[in-house]
Amino acid sequence: MNRGPIGIFDSGIGGLTVARAIYDLLPHESTVYLGDTARVPYGPKSPATVRRYSAEILAWLERQDVKAVVVACNTATAHALPDLQAASPVPVLGVVAPGARAAAGATRSGSVGVIGTAGTIASGAYRNALLTERPDLAVVEQACPLFVPLVEEGWFSHPAARAIAEVYLQPITAAGVDALVLGCTHYPLLKPLLADLLGSGVALIDSAEETARDLAGLLQRRGLSAPSDAVATHRWGATDDVERFARLGALFTGRPVAPVELVDLEATAS
Ligand code: DGL
Repeated sequence: MNRGPIGIFDSGIGGLTVARAIYDLLPHESTVYLGDTARVPYGPKSPATVRRYSAEILAWLERQDVKAVVVACNTATAHALPDLQAASPVPVLGVVAPGARAAAGATRSGSVGVIGTAGTIASGAYRNALLTERPDLAVVEQACPLFVPLVEEGWFSHPAARAIAEVYLQPITAAGVDALVLGCTHYPLLKPLLADLLGSGVALIDSAEETARDLAGLLQRRGLSAPSDAVATHRWGATDDVERFARLGALFTGRPVAPVELVDLEATAS
Protein backbone atom coordinates (compact mmCIF):
# COMPACT_ATOMS: atom_id res chain seq x y z
CA MET A 1 0.00 0.00 0.00
CA ASN A 2 1.18 3.48 -0.81
CA ARG A 3 -0.73 6.74 -0.30
CA GLY A 4 1.64 8.79 -2.47
CA PRO A 5 0.31 10.61 -5.53
CA ILE A 6 0.47 9.52 -9.14
CA GLY A 7 2.24 12.01 -11.40
CA ILE A 8 0.54 12.77 -14.70
CA PHE A 9 1.90 15.10 -17.35
CA ASP A 10 1.10 16.47 -20.76
CA SER A 11 2.26 19.28 -23.00
CA GLY A 12 -0.82 21.15 -21.85
CA ILE A 13 -4.42 20.67 -20.92
CA GLY A 14 -5.39 17.79 -23.20
CA GLY A 15 -3.87 15.14 -20.92
CA LEU A 16 -6.66 15.87 -18.48
CA THR A 17 -8.73 13.46 -20.62
CA VAL A 18 -6.37 10.76 -19.31
CA ALA A 19 -6.43 12.23 -15.79
CA ARG A 20 -10.22 12.08 -15.84
CA ALA A 21 -10.16 8.37 -16.66
CA ILE A 22 -7.75 7.86 -13.71
CA TYR A 23 -9.96 9.89 -11.33
CA ASP A 24 -12.96 7.77 -12.38
CA LEU A 25 -11.31 4.33 -12.26
CA LEU A 26 -9.12 4.90 -9.20
CA PRO A 27 -11.10 7.12 -6.81
CA HIS A 28 -8.72 6.52 -3.88
CA GLU A 29 -5.59 7.56 -5.75
CA SER A 30 -4.21 11.07 -5.28
CA THR A 31 -2.66 12.75 -8.31
CA VAL A 32 -0.46 15.63 -9.30
CA TYR A 33 -0.82 16.83 -12.90
CA LEU A 34 1.57 19.11 -14.75
CA GLY A 35 0.61 20.76 -18.04
CA ASP A 36 3.51 22.41 -19.87
CA THR A 37 1.32 25.21 -21.18
CA ALA A 38 4.30 27.54 -21.65
CA ARG A 39 5.79 25.24 -24.30
CA VAL A 40 2.73 23.58 -25.86
CA PRO A 41 2.41 22.30 -28.59
CA TYR A 42 4.88 19.40 -28.56
CA GLY A 43 3.40 17.94 -31.76
CA PRO A 44 5.52 19.91 -34.27
CA LYS A 45 8.73 19.91 -32.15
CA SER A 46 11.78 17.73 -32.72
CA PRO A 47 12.15 14.44 -30.81
CA ALA A 48 15.23 15.81 -28.98
CA THR A 49 13.32 18.86 -27.73
CA VAL A 50 10.34 16.78 -26.60
CA ARG A 51 12.72 14.41 -24.78
CA ARG A 52 14.39 17.34 -22.98
CA TYR A 53 11.07 18.91 -21.94
CA SER A 54 9.76 15.53 -20.76
CA ALA A 55 12.89 14.87 -18.68
CA GLU A 56 12.50 18.26 -16.97
CA ILE A 57 8.89 17.49 -16.09
CA LEU A 58 9.79 14.01 -14.82
CA ALA A 59 12.38 15.58 -12.51
CA TRP A 60 9.73 18.02 -11.19
CA LEU A 61 7.24 15.20 -10.60
CA GLU A 62 9.86 13.19 -8.75
CA ARG A 63 10.28 16.14 -6.39
CA GLN A 64 6.53 15.88 -5.65
CA ASP A 65 7.23 12.33 -4.35
CA VAL A 66 5.08 10.56 -6.92
CA LYS A 67 4.89 6.76 -6.76
CA ALA A 68 4.31 6.33 -10.51
CA VAL A 69 4.17 8.55 -13.59
CA VAL A 70 1.70 8.53 -16.47
CA VAL A 71 2.86 10.25 -19.63
CA ALA A 72 -0.57 11.40 -20.82
CA CYS A 73 0.85 13.10 -23.93
CA ASN A 74 1.00 10.94 -27.04
CA THR A 75 3.84 12.96 -28.56
CA ALA A 76 5.94 12.74 -25.37
CA THR A 77 5.19 9.01 -25.13
CA ALA A 78 6.15 8.50 -28.77
CA HIS A 79 9.47 10.32 -28.47
CA ALA A 80 10.53 9.97 -24.84
CA LEU A 81 8.99 6.97 -23.04
CA PRO A 82 12.03 4.63 -23.07
CA ASP A 83 14.33 7.47 -21.90
CA LEU A 84 11.94 8.41 -19.10
CA GLN A 85 11.58 4.79 -17.99
CA ALA A 86 15.34 4.40 -17.90
CA ALA A 87 15.81 7.61 -15.90
CA SER A 88 12.97 7.23 -13.39
CA PRO A 89 13.17 5.51 -10.00
CA VAL A 90 9.37 4.96 -10.16
CA PRO A 91 7.38 3.14 -12.88
CA VAL A 92 6.49 5.23 -15.95
CA LEU A 93 3.54 4.42 -18.24
CA GLY A 94 2.68 5.92 -21.61
CA VAL A 95 -0.51 6.09 -23.65
CA VAL A 96 0.62 4.49 -26.92
CA ALA A 97 0.77 0.80 -25.94
CA PRO A 98 -2.64 0.83 -24.20
CA GLY A 99 -4.26 2.55 -27.21
CA ALA A 100 -2.66 0.13 -29.65
CA ARG A 101 -3.82 -2.84 -27.58
CA ALA A 102 -7.39 -1.55 -27.50
CA ALA A 103 -7.39 -1.00 -31.28
CA ALA A 104 -5.88 -4.41 -32.03
CA GLY A 105 -8.65 -5.95 -29.90
CA ALA A 106 -11.41 -3.90 -31.52
CA THR A 107 -10.71 -4.42 -35.23
CA ARG A 108 -12.40 -7.26 -37.08
CA SER A 109 -11.20 -6.38 -40.57
CA GLY A 110 -7.55 -6.08 -39.47
CA SER A 111 -7.38 -2.59 -40.97
CA VAL A 112 -6.62 0.09 -38.36
CA GLY A 113 -6.21 3.85 -38.72
CA VAL A 114 -4.15 6.11 -36.48
CA ILE A 115 -4.44 9.89 -36.25
CA GLY A 116 -2.08 12.03 -34.18
CA THR A 117 0.23 15.02 -34.16
CA ALA A 118 2.96 15.33 -36.79
CA GLY A 119 5.55 14.12 -34.25
CA THR A 120 3.56 11.11 -33.11
CA ILE A 121 2.86 9.95 -36.65
CA ALA A 122 6.46 10.57 -37.82
CA SER A 123 7.78 8.52 -34.88
CA GLY A 124 5.94 5.40 -36.06
CA ALA A 125 5.28 4.59 -32.39
CA TYR A 126 1.65 3.55 -32.93
CA ARG A 127 2.45 1.53 -36.06
CA ASN A 128 5.16 -0.34 -34.13
CA ALA A 129 2.93 -0.90 -31.10
CA LEU A 130 0.05 -2.14 -33.28
CA LEU A 131 2.27 -4.51 -35.22
CA THR A 132 3.74 -5.80 -31.96
CA GLU A 133 0.19 -6.60 -30.84
CA ARG A 134 -0.81 -8.13 -34.15
CA PRO A 135 1.72 -8.42 -37.00
CA ASP A 136 -1.08 -9.09 -39.51
CA LEU A 137 -2.66 -5.65 -39.14
CA ALA A 138 -2.80 -3.13 -41.99
CA VAL A 139 -2.08 0.28 -40.47
CA VAL A 140 -2.84 3.63 -42.11
CA GLU A 141 -1.61 6.76 -40.35
CA GLN A 142 -2.51 10.41 -40.78
CA ALA A 143 -1.09 13.48 -39.02
CA CYS A 144 -3.81 16.01 -38.16
CA PRO A 145 -1.86 19.08 -36.95
CA LEU A 146 -4.84 21.46 -37.18
CA PHE A 147 -7.00 19.45 -34.78
CA VAL A 148 -5.20 20.63 -31.61
CA PRO A 149 -5.77 24.36 -32.26
CA LEU A 150 -9.38 23.66 -33.26
CA VAL A 151 -10.03 21.86 -29.98
CA GLU A 152 -8.24 24.57 -27.98
CA GLU A 153 -10.64 27.06 -29.60
CA GLY A 154 -13.58 24.89 -28.55
CA TRP A 155 -14.50 24.36 -32.21
CA PHE A 156 -15.55 20.75 -31.69
CA SER A 157 -18.29 20.78 -34.32
CA HIS A 158 -17.65 24.06 -36.14
CA PRO A 159 -18.05 23.89 -39.95
CA ALA A 160 -14.32 24.65 -40.27
CA ALA A 161 -13.49 21.64 -38.08
CA ARG A 162 -15.76 19.47 -40.21
CA ALA A 163 -14.16 20.66 -43.48
CA ILE A 164 -10.63 20.02 -42.16
CA ALA A 165 -11.59 16.63 -40.73
CA GLU A 166 -13.05 15.58 -44.08
CA VAL A 167 -9.67 16.20 -45.74
CA TYR A 168 -7.65 14.46 -43.01
CA LEU A 169 -9.94 11.44 -42.95
CA GLN A 170 -9.80 10.78 -46.71
CA PRO A 171 -6.94 8.24 -46.57
CA ILE A 172 -8.49 6.62 -43.49
CA THR A 173 -11.83 6.20 -45.23
CA ALA A 174 -10.18 5.03 -48.45
CA ALA A 175 -8.36 2.28 -46.53
CA GLY A 176 -11.66 0.98 -45.14
CA VAL A 177 -10.51 0.83 -41.52
CA ASP A 178 -12.93 -0.39 -38.84
CA ALA A 179 -10.95 1.00 -35.88
CA LEU A 180 -9.36 4.42 -35.57
CA VAL A 181 -6.90 5.28 -32.79
CA LEU A 182 -7.39 8.83 -31.53
CA GLY A 183 -3.65 9.16 -30.92
CA CYS A 184 -3.65 12.61 -29.36
CA THR A 185 -4.93 13.95 -26.05
CA HIS A 186 -7.26 16.44 -27.74
CA TYR A 187 -9.01 14.19 -30.21
CA PRO A 188 -11.52 12.54 -27.83
CA LEU A 189 -13.24 15.93 -27.77
CA LEU A 190 -13.80 15.59 -31.53
CA LYS A 191 -15.43 12.16 -31.14
CA PRO A 192 -18.97 13.24 -32.09
CA LEU A 193 -17.69 14.93 -35.27
CA LEU A 194 -15.42 12.02 -36.23
CA ALA A 195 -18.17 9.48 -35.51
CA ASP A 196 -20.53 11.46 -37.70
CA LEU A 197 -18.03 11.56 -40.58
CA LEU A 198 -16.88 7.93 -40.30
CA GLY A 199 -20.15 6.24 -39.40
CA SER A 200 -20.92 3.59 -36.84
CA GLY A 201 -18.79 0.94 -38.60
CA VAL A 202 -15.57 2.52 -37.32
CA ALA A 203 -14.69 2.11 -33.62
CA LEU A 204 -13.05 5.24 -32.21
CA ILE A 205 -10.29 4.18 -29.81
CA ASP A 206 -9.40 6.55 -27.02
CA SER A 207 -6.42 5.37 -25.00
CA ALA A 208 -7.45 7.20 -21.79
CA GLU A 209 -9.53 4.42 -20.25
CA GLU A 210 -7.13 1.66 -21.33
CA THR A 211 -4.23 3.63 -19.83
CA ALA A 212 -6.10 4.00 -16.53
CA ARG A 213 -6.67 0.22 -16.50
CA ASP A 214 -2.96 -0.38 -17.17
CA LEU A 215 -2.11 1.93 -14.29
CA ALA A 216 -4.50 0.09 -11.96
CA GLY A 217 -2.86 -3.24 -12.86
CA LEU A 218 0.63 -1.86 -12.38
CA LEU A 219 -0.16 -0.36 -8.96
CA GLN A 220 -1.65 -3.64 -7.84
CA ARG A 221 1.23 -5.78 -9.08
CA ARG A 222 3.81 -3.54 -7.41
CA GLY A 223 1.89 -3.16 -4.14
CA LEU A 224 1.58 0.57 -4.75
CA SER A 225 -2.22 0.97 -4.60
CA ALA A 226 -3.71 3.40 -2.10
CA PRO A 227 -5.76 1.76 0.66
CA SER A 228 -9.54 1.82 0.21
CA ASP A 229 -9.93 4.31 3.08
CA ALA A 230 -7.63 6.84 1.37
CA VAL A 231 -9.26 10.14 0.44
CA ALA A 232 -7.83 11.28 -2.89
CA THR A 233 -6.47 14.78 -3.32
CA HIS A 234 -5.73 16.24 -6.74
CA ARG A 235 -3.20 18.94 -7.56
CA TRP A 236 -2.74 20.72 -10.86
CA GLY A 237 0.21 22.74 -12.09
CA ALA A 238 0.81 24.60 -15.33
CA THR A 239 3.89 26.38 -16.66
CA ASP A 240 1.85 29.34 -17.98
CA ASP A 241 -1.62 30.90 -17.93
CA VAL A 242 -3.11 29.10 -14.97
CA GLU A 243 -6.50 30.82 -15.42
CA ARG A 244 -6.92 29.40 -18.93
CA PHE A 245 -5.80 25.98 -17.65
CA ALA A 246 -8.48 26.08 -14.95
CA ARG A 247 -11.17 27.18 -17.40
CA LEU A 248 -10.39 24.67 -20.15
CA GLY A 249 -9.52 22.00 -17.59
CA ALA A 250 -13.07 22.12 -16.25
CA LEU A 251 -14.31 21.63 -19.83
CA PHE A 252 -11.96 18.66 -20.40
CA THR A 253 -12.74 16.90 -17.12
CA GLY A 254 -16.32 17.96 -16.40
CA ARG A 255 -15.31 18.98 -12.86
CA PRO A 256 -13.65 21.99 -11.19
CA VAL A 257 -9.89 22.15 -11.84
CA ALA A 258 -8.61 24.57 -9.22
CA PRO A 259 -6.48 25.92 -7.76
CA VAL A 260 -3.83 25.66 -10.47
CA GLU A 261 -0.27 26.30 -9.33
CA LEU A 262 2.10 28.23 -11.63
CA VAL A 263 5.22 26.06 -12.02
CA ASP A 264 8.56 27.43 -13.21
CA LEU A 265 10.47 24.31 -14.25
CA GLU A 266 13.78 26.22 -14.51
CA ALA A 267 13.49 27.88 -11.10
CA THR A 268 12.59 24.60 -9.41
CA ALA A 269 15.26 22.55 -11.20
CA SER A 270 17.99 23.01 -8.58
N1 DGL B 1 -0.60 16.41 -25.95
C1 DGL B 1 -0.25 16.31 -27.36
C2 DGL B 1 -0.42 14.85 -27.79
O1 DGL B 1 -1.16 14.08 -27.22
C3 DGL B 1 -1.11 17.22 -28.22
C4 DGL B 1 -0.80 18.69 -28.06
C5 DGL B 1 0.62 19.02 -28.48
O2 DGL B 1 0.92 19.03 -29.69
O3 DGL B 1 1.42 19.30 -27.60
O4 DGL B 1 0.20 14.45 -28.74
